[in-house]
Amino acid sequence: TVEFSLRPRYLSEYIGQTQAKENLKIYIEAAKMRKEALDHVLLYGPPGLGKTTLSHIIANELGVNIRATSGPAIERPGDLAAILTNLQPYDLLFIDEIHRLNRSVEEVLYPAMEDFALDIVIGKGPSARSVRIDLPPFTLVGATTRAGSLSSPLRDRFGVVSRLEYYTVEELTLIVMRSADLLQVGIYEEGAVEIASRARGTPRIANRLLKRVRDFVQVEGDGIITGEAARYALDRIQVDKLGLDHVDHRLLKAIIENFRGGPVGLDTLAAVIGEEPHTVEDVYEPYLMQIGFLQRTPRGRMVTMKCCQHFGVEWPK
Ligand code: ADE
Repeated sequence: TVEFSLRPRYLSEYIGQTQAKENLKIYIEAAKMRKEALDHVLLYGPPGLGKTTLSHIIANELGVNIRATSGPAIERPGDLAAILTNLQPYDLLFIDEIHRLNRSVEEVLYPAMEDFALDIVIGKGPSARSVRIDLPPFTLVGATTRAGSLSSPLRDRFGVVSRLEYYTVEELTLIVMRSADLLQVGIYEEGAVEIASRARGTPRIANRLLKRVRDFVQVEGDGIITGEAARYALDRIQVDKLGLDHVDHRLLKAIIENFRGGPVGLDTLAAVIGEEPHTVEDVYEPYLMQIGFLQRTPRGRMVTMKCCQHFGVEWPK
């Protein structure tokens, strides 16, 4: 699909996340020199920052196959055992949303990560015994939006723990220019900056906005993304100057209008705006906190004075 072709395939094409990238480059090179599997890697941070992309890049740089799955997709220990026993030596196993693995599956993972082994219990009761099966050496790359909800035994088994950060406007501008090139749409730097500024620090959002702006300039304009054209299109799709969309607005306005600025509990807030609590927590809140519009307190969510100023309403406190 188009989406996939926008993803960089090698570290040299990957923009941003400089620290994570430079360190990974060293670890990959060292593993290749020693002809070993790369140590297990945990990538964490808000959605859309490139965890899946990076895992594919790591596999490409290592020159190995990638097997991609997710925490919720692995329901039983046997499902994981089947995946592990089908790996080729040095393959990369990518588990997205690894914090959602259930306990019994997680326990299969411990000896697999530590000793490249699978412990299987045969029989029941007094005659039950455990048999150990050797696995090929492999690299587990786990991705999660919440490192905090990973159990500590699992967390401790990752040799590399890397936190992905929101991208700067400059980095996102480069990403938008690169993507526009791949999509073969003309763009001025001013247009790219406009899209980048409203992308909430997130490449996935930047690329999505780019595609929508492209639709507008191709249907209503001359096919070129100027600053003016980008501003027009982004206003039409209701993404404001800070990149806040319709849902962000509903969320913040609900706190201001229904709860006098808060505090309000997560579940109540989610119900009022008709979203899942997990979605509110993982997708919407991190950026609103990052820009200083929202606070999580022990008694619930509160908006800040800065947020009220943005909406031109009085600080209720
Ligand atoms: N497309 C999406 N994320 C990217 C990144 N970090 N670098 C380059 N292109 C991208």
